[in-house]
Amino acid sequence: MTGFGWHRCALRLRAVTVTAHAPAKVNLTLSVGPLEADGYHRLTTVYHALTLHDSVTAMPAVRPSIEMKLEVAGLVPDGDDNLAMRAVYALADATGHKPHVSLTVTKRIPIAAGLAGGSADAAAALVACNELWQTGLSTEELADVARGLGSDVPFALYGGTMLGTGRGDQLAPVLTPGTAAGSLHWVLAVSDEGLSTPAVYRRLDELRGTDAGRAEAELPRDMLLALRAGDIDGIAAAMTNDLQEAAAAMRPGLRRTLQAGLEYGATAALVTGSGPTCVFLSETKETADNLAVALSAEGVCSRVLRATGPARGAHLA
Ligand code: C5P
Repeated sequence: MTGFGWHRCALRLRAVTVTAHAPAKVNLTLSVGPLEADGYHRLTTVYHALTLHDSVTAMPAVRPSIEMKLEVAGLVPDGDDNLAMRAVYALADATGHKPHVSLTVTKRIPIAAGLAGGSADAAAALVACNELWQTGLSTEELADVARGLGSDVPFALYGGTMLGTGRGDQLAPVLTPGTAAGSLHWVLAVSDEGLSTPAVYRRLDELRGTDAGRAEAELPRDMLLALRAGDIDGIAAAMTNDLQEAAAAMRPGLRRTLQAGLEYGATAALVTGSGPTCVFLSETKETADNLAVALSAEGVCSRVLRATGPARGAHLA
């Protein structure tokens, strides 16, 4: 092949390989209401997307396949059970396209960590395949497909900071002119041993006992006001998570991790989602860097990560 031929071949290859990134999330608030007949709790949450992200590359293939490149500890299904593969089939169903694609998922978001890493992979797969197949679905149409895949998948498509209701899949944007005051700086204390989301919800129901059906999810007014004002202390004061007690009951060491973060200067400390990741809000980049070093040295978790938010939702690389 001539040099020119090579060049054309490389261009064609590049044109049929599509990569998308999608963010991890933290829940700035998570108020869990009653368990409904569909097996899900009604909840109200403020989602916040982080710069920490996974990537999905999609290539044409004769049959669907998936390869996992893990940059984190743990195991994820590498077949049709993987949420990214389920996203492929769901998009194929919705558009009439054949699900013939080869996915490569690069995982940087810790697994079963309360950071919605699986949801990020599904959202990235939707965006990558929508582009590869030229199926032309809008973000809203992709979100309809995403809803059938998991409660957090629509948010991974949109990113930013959003109010989630229903199962967490009904989204409304949150006014955050506070981002003009700079991004929020986060330190994440990660455990290499994940927690099962359904098990944490079950533990919450057990802890609530007979009151389980009566707790209503509450609107996070203080958080919405603090975000609108760009008031970091207000955001810190309004951070709450109804699942934290349940996660800590299953993993008592989390209390020590949260306490250590506060002692080393975090403005706020919270378990995110169903855990076991503990997230710490810091006033500045410098205090976050110092906190990350101190937490690593203290040995209260498997690994420490840094991120800022809000970050973009799933998007083409
Ligand atoms: O929607 P997703 O598949 O991520 O949910 C995983 C599990 O978490 C559900 O099967 C359910 O046990 C629990 N869950 C819940 N209420 C929600 C979201 C999740 O009970 N709103």
